[in-house]
Amino acid sequence: MTAIDIDIKRLPKHIAIIMDGNGRWAKLRKQPRIFGHREGAKSVRKVVEASARLGINNLTLYAFSTENWNRPKHEVKTLMKLLVSALKRELPLMKKNNIRLNAIGHTDMMPENVQHELQEVLDETKTNTGLILTLALSYGARQEIQRAIQEISYKVKNNIISVENVDEDIINKHLYTQNLPDVDLLIRTSGEVRISNFLLWQIAYAELYFTKELWPDFDEISLHNAITDYQLRERRFGKTSEQIAE
Ligand code: IPE
Ligand code: IPE
Ligand code: MG
Repeated sequence: MTAIDIDIKRLPKHIAIIMDGNGRWAKLRKQPRIFGHREGAKSVRKVVEASARLGINNLTLYAFSTENWNRPKHEVKTLMKLLVSALKRELPLMKKNNIRLNAIGHTDMMPENVQHELQEVLDETKTNTGLILTLALSYGARQEIQRAIQEISYKVKNNIISVENVDEDIINKHLYTQNLPDVDLLIRTSGEVRISNFLLWQIAYAELYFTKELWPDFDEISLHNAITDYQLRERRFGKTSEQIAE
């Protein structure tokens, strides 16, 4: 399948990806897990470039979850190292492709050098007007919602907002994703059929796409396949099929 099959006028406004299967990809090749993570970084580049080329406005990648802190120390350390080198390496390409980097999650938990490099790329790309590439780092959806509730409660307590005014819009404004539209298409690789604490609020009406492909094997064609599949679906948002056809 090629990009020709994609209707450019009906692109998902926001694609989110749970990039899973790096470890299994490496294991299949009798290599250490980190070998898979390194290969996975290449898929990130391919998918980011392909999204920019297609004209996707928002791409959000689950790079490191709150729960991933529980992995072996060595793996966490190497993942952080890979992240720093990827940020350094990809900055020129982001600039060239007019990509703006964004980060969501409890990024204060990341090591100093990661935070430093991240800030650098955020600053260097902040005036870019093309694809918004959001990295979910030390991200957990429940923690994000908890944090929003705390902030809203504090504002209610201090009479900054009234209880009656707490609506979906207010909640949205207190999430990390406050400036992003809802997710239209959520992709997960590696055959796992779960959400793993990713963007729970934001995927309320997303189309879910699960593929058995392992993340290091996921490329431009895989992305096109996911978008083509998305475009074949009828998004009813509670209405009837007849209403949609009207
Ligand atoms: C996804 O691949 C990358 C991260 C979670 C950082 P995994 O490392 O989870 O790979 P599997 O699931 O063990 O194959
Ligand atoms: C989800 O993958 C997190 C990321 C892709 C960063 P995991 O591999 O950590 O998910 P579980 O624990 O198997 O659900
Ligand atoms: Mg995994």
